[in-house]
Amino acid sequence: MSLEKQSAARAAVEEVKEGMLVGLGTGSTAAYAISFLGEKVRNGLNITAIPTSEASKQQAEAEGILLTDFEHTIRIDLCIDGADEIDSELNMIKGGGGALLREKIVAASAKRYLIIIDSSKQVETLGAFPLPVEVIPFGWQVVLGKLEGMNARPELRKSGGQPFVTDEGNYIIDCSFKSILEPAQLETDLNRIPGVVENGLFTGMCDRMIMGMGDQIFSKERR
Ligand code: 5RP
Repeated sequence: MSLEKQSAARAAVEEVKEGMLVGLGTGSTAAYAISFLGEKVRNGLNITAIPTSEASKQQAEAEGILLTDFEHTIRIDLCIDGADEIDSELNMIKGGGGALLREKIVAASAKRYLIIIDSSKQVETLGAFPLPVEVIPFGWQVVLGKLEGMNARPELRKSGGQPFVTDEGNYIIDCSFKSILEPAQLETDLNRIPGVVENGLFTGMCDRMIMGMGDQIFSKERR
C-alpha cells in the first residue's frame, strides 16, 4: 500500500506550479506529498503552504517549505490530502488521523482539491470506516447520546486511556454507521447537533482523486 500511496502523491505534486499557495493534508499519504514537495522546493520551486495539522506543519518546516496562515491569505490554489474512504461520486470519509476540522477548512478555501489514496480506500458505499465526529469537550456525553439515537454505535476516541484531543482542543466520537446511503444529508444532519464542531463526511468537495493501484495510477475528476 505504501508504494500506491507514494505513486499517488508523486502524481499529485506534479500539479503544484511556481508561486502557488498549497494546502498540505494530514496522514501517511499526505506525508509523502509533503516530502516530494520538499524535494521540489529544495530544487528551486517557490511555493507557500498552509498545513492542516500540527504534524504536517512540523514536517513541512523540516522539509524547508515556506508556511503562511489565514491571517495573510484565504485563497489556496491547490490542496492535497488523503482520505479514509472515497466513493464513485468522490464523497469521502476523512479524519482517521483526527485532523478533519482543519482539513475541511483548508479544503473549503482551495480552488482545487486533490485527494490521493491507495486502492484500499475506494468503496461502493461509505460507512465501513468509522465516521469521526469532532465535538467540544463540554457535554460530549449529550452528543454521544444523540448519536446513539441515530444508530451510529458511537465511541469516544481514546489515546493512552484518555480522550484523544484534536489540534483544536476538541474530542472525537467515532461512529459505526456501517453503510451511509445519503452522505450529503448525514453530513448536514450531524453538524446540526449542538456540540458538534464538524464531521468527517466531505461531500461535493473533491475535484480530482488520484489512486495508486498496483504499479498503475488511476485518476478521476469530479463531474
Ligand atoms: C487525517 C485524514 C487522513 O487524510 C486520512 O486518515 C488518510 O490517512 P492515510 O493517508 O494515513 O491513510 O483524514 O485526519
